[in-house]
Order: sequence, then structure tokens, then C-alpha cells
Amino acid sequence: MRLAVNIDHIATLRQARKAKEPEPVLAALLAEQAGAHGIVCHLRGDRRHIQERDLRLLREVIKTKLNLEMAATAEMLAIAEKVKPDVASLVPESPNEVTTQGGLNVISNKNHLLQFIPQLQRAGIRVSIFVDPDEAQIKECKAVGVDLIEINTGKYAEAAKVRDRQKALEEVKKAAALAHELGLEVHAGHGLDYHNVRPIVEIPQISELSIGFAIVARAAIVGLPQAVREMLALLEKR
Ligand code: PXP
Repeated sequence: MRLAVNIDHIATLRQARKAKEPEPVLAALLAEQAGAHGIVCHLRGDRRHIQERDLRLLREVIKTKLNLEMAATAEMLAIAEKVKPDVASLVPESPNEVTTQGGLNVISNKNHLLQFIPQLQRAGIRVSIFVDPDEAQIKECKAVGVDLIEINTGKYAEAAKVRDRQKALEEVKKAAALAHELGLEVHAGHGLDYHNVRPIVEIPQISELSIGFAIVARAAIVGLPQAVREMLALLEKR
């Protein structure tokens, strides 16, 4: 199982003081040195954490894969075409959310996505959609021509009761099996941490996890390389 480390919250800390540190680029390099298989960042319309300057520098220095989370807007398309991340992950974005609230509604955005996705692909960028574990939505991901999907594990991660968590896990498992059957590469993420990641690691069709907050939070206490290594140890058991 590959680990892609989301470094947005290194930038959140920097922006809290509008300061120059901590440096997301340094965090990305440390995560790579500790064994991470990819780096993820989300350039938001409101620029609350990652800045365009971070994205440009990340593209220059990282040696693994750069995955840019972005809204499917004309502004972000122009930036992606210039920076050329390895993967562009299309996510819904609303201005007042604390974090991404759910998967993209592929069904209601189908017409827009059908013309948006090929533009990224023509620039040599693989396209992913962050999607809820819902059969109809996943089938639509195939229909709009993405290369891969990232299944939203938020409901699983946030479930307070064991029964709800089990039900949400079953939904993720079914969604992963369906997406794999449709020929899509399957990633997952959102809300995963050191305590809840194992059942997701056991899902055979999922090849990569995107994890941010839990790793950055642990890094504040134990340091980023150790936080990354501890997560990698949990992912390596499959
Ligand atoms: N995947 C997507 C699409 C996200 O928007 C986020 C949060 O930025 C993550 C994964 C990572 O979630 P977390 O920070 O909870 O690990």
C-alpha cells in the first residue's frame, strides 16, 4: 500500500502567522526521505494554506509524485496546465468548510466534467475524482473518463458508533471492488489516522492512501520523519 502525504497543514501553520515557516517544501522532502510514495497538496480558491509559490517549488523539488487537489474551475485548470502535477484530484470546494465536506457529485456535474477532464489529460496529467463510496457516483466516474478515483473515507473515519463504522467500512469495500472491476485505479483518503487506518489497508483493491492531518498533527510532537515512518509501518503490513 502506497502512502501519499498531504502537507496542507504545514502551510496552515505558516499562514496562521503569515510567516515564512514552517516550509511545506521542506516537509515534502522530509516525507519523501522517510519513505512516502507521493506528496499531495490542495490549492484552494481562498489560498488558506498552500500558495501558488508552494506548488511551483513542490513541482521542482519532489522526486516522487505530486498530486494536486483542486476544484474543477477555469482558474485551477490554467494553474494545473502550467505546473503539470502528476495527478489532479478533483474535489468539491465551498468557502466556509473547515475541510473537504464530501465527494464530488459526479452525476450532477457530468456535463462540466466531460469537457474539463480531457483538458487536464491533454496536458499529460492523470485525473482523479474524490468520490463518496456510492455505486451510482462511481459508475459515473468511469463514464466521465477519469484515470483513477479516491474513495472518501470520511464517513468511516467519523463514525462514532461501532455499527455505523462497520457499515461505512462495508460501503468503502463495495465501492473499491466496483471501481476496480470497472478498470479504475483505486485510492482512498480523508480522516484516516493511526487508529483507524488498518481496516482500510486490508481492502485489496486500494493501492494508495492520502493522509494529511493525522500525520502533521503527530509530526508536531514526534517530528515528521518519524510520523511518516510510523504510518508507513501500518501500511506495509498488507
Ligand atoms: N483526500 C482529499 C480529497 C482531501 O481533501 C483531504 C483533505 O485535504 C485528504 C484526502 C486528507 O485528509 P486528512 O487531512 O483528513 O488526512
